[in-house]
Amino acid sequence: MNAPASVKNARLKEWVASMAALCKPDTVHWCDGSKAEYDRLMAEMVASGMAIKLNEQKRPNSFLFRSDPKDVARVEDRTYICSRRKQDAGPTNNWVDPREMQDKLNKLFDGTMKGRPMYVIPFSMGPIGSSISHIGIEITDSPYVVVNMHIMTRVGAAVLDALGEDGEFVPCMHSVGKPLSHGEKDVHWPCNEEKYITHFPEERAIWSYGSGYGGNALLGKKCFALRIASVMARDEGWLAEHMLILGVESKDGEKTYVGAAFPSACGKTNFAMLIPPAGLSDYKITTVGDDIAWIKPGRDGKLYAINPEAGFFGVAPGTSYDSNPNAMESIKRDTIFTNVALTEDGDVWWEGMTKSPPARLTDWQGNAWTPDGGHVSSHPNSRFTAPLGNCPCADPAYEDPNGVPIGAFIFGGRRSTTVPLVMQGYNWNYGVYMAATMGSETTAAATGAVGKVRRDPFAMLPFIGYHMADYWNHWLDMGRKIHNPPRIFSVNWFRKDADGKFLWPGFGENMRILKWIVEKVHGRAYSEESPLGWVPTYADIDWTGLDFSEEKFNELMSVDRTQWEAEILSHEELFIKLYDELPKEFVLKRQLILSQLWRAPEHWEPTHVDAP
Ligand code: OXD
Ligand code: MN
Repeated sequence: MNAPASVKNARLKEWVASMAALCKPDTVHWCDGSKAEYDRLMAEMVASGMAIKLNEQKRPNSFLFRSDPKDVARVEDRTYICSRRKQDAGPTNNWVDPREMQDKLNKLFDGTMKGRPMYVIPFSMGPIGSSISHIGIEITDSPYVVVNMHIMTRVGAAVLDALGEDGEFVPCMHSVGKPLSHGEKDVHWPCNEEKYITHFPEERAIWSYGSGYGGNALLGKKCFALRIASVMARDEGWLAEHMLILGVESKDGEKTYVGAAFPSACGKTNFAMLIPPAGLSDYKITTVGDDIAWIKPGRDGKLYAINPEAGFFGVAPGTSYDSNPNAMESIKRDTIFTNVALTEDGDVWWEGMTKSPPARLTDWQGNAWTPDGGHVSSHPNSRFTAPLGNCPCADPAYEDPNGVPIGAFIFGGRRSTTVPLVMQGYNWNYGVYMAATMGSETTAAATGAVGKVRRDPFAMLPFIGYHMADYWNHWLDMGRKIHNPPRIFSVNWFRKDADGKFLWPGFGENMRILKWIVEKVHGRAYSEESPLGWVPTYADIDWTGLDFSEEKFNELMSVDRTQWEAEILSHEELFIKLYDELPKEFVLKRQLILSQLWRAPEHWEPTHVDAP
């Protein structure tokens, strides 16, 4: 049970010993992150029936897992920010007094690993040794978590070396909450009906109980890299964001990096791996990350970003060679699939992967499936876990410890009305207002209330580790501290016409908007002032290879005063909820937008400009 000699950090040794004493596992295994370790755990899980090895010819070194049907997604209503003061968690988070929560957790974790091994996973979020990276140690009783952490983070001895004798780490405690009594046979997906995903921001500690799935259990991701890291970032003067990072490379090799935040289920992975359409093929998009960005000011006063993760944990349904060829290439091998369907020849399938489904499948719960059965073969939140290095468009700098310089931030939600295709904020503060008030329409799968706009500031609603309005103050403050801050844009790919049809083709065609954004960053593109921000006219967008009318573009860009009055009232609703920490600027910005709307025509559209 003793720590190996390579563990020099006294706090770590003490912590692991005390957690082993609490959880009472059969054995303690210190993970080294090696391929041998991965292979051994996979072989054990295949032998126990937890994993299915896929056809080695079709999907080399890949495996399928099926979770308990009651453990299939993040559990926001069981997620807590246990700061000492309730007001520090803010009204958008669940809160319980930290002493009360710790008492509860101590009882739940007492003996929780009986009959199982306890794994200790030293991991780095970000390239090991980078000044933007941070180290975590996850203790878990789930071998599924260990193999996923191998892909999603950097695990192993080099992390312990970087930690040294007195380095800092975030302790991440995880148990599926299913101890085994002597001789009891395990189930294929152990978990517990009772779930707690808890964060102690002052201690910078995470305790997760009862779930083995995704963001509930891979604690480096949402729990550390967003909830705890957002608190660290506030205290230390940096940003931890729910953002993809992509590079735009022009034909003369100029590279511009962009961070983009979209709520879950708005196509972040697709945008991060975009392939430009034929007319714009002299541009290339490269991917640094598809979900999270850690961004710190460099010595030159600019912002530099890393992707703290090392892999993709992507939603499978809807991913296809049409929607995202780069994602399909990334998951061709070395991939863990969870809750997708199994084909007769030992490969995987999900809704939307091909135009017509196979005649027979085994569905995500292990039952025989045919297309006429009336239900989907894969769970809507089924996932692939794949190494970033597998991605054909991975940016060469994704391992760069210095990070990449950010030229622009983009924020966007899913809005069928009201919000124009693209706008640039007039300045940093205005951009922060746009990001803080962004909303997205909920889908039937999530809530049952189709089309209801949920405010999701910065796409961080489920991920901020402290008071949301205090987080806005932090963004405003960052703008004051950095030199020439990145330009801030808002986009909406999802606007529909009066017949309910999407006005914008999306996917690769988004490159046209991205090109305008990049050109604006470099001061080479034109724009005009709308009631809401700087916008391109039809003549400012490169339409090479696409037949898209000015009329349709203007409809996409239009600003309707009546719709915006309702929009602004709903900003006010959000502000009232967060009033105790609300930045004073926001009240004035709201007034400013109102007066701009009243000075413009009731239905505003970009002016016609003849192309030069
Ligand atoms: C995710 C999410 O899984 O945002 O990345 O829900
Ligand atoms: Mn996400």
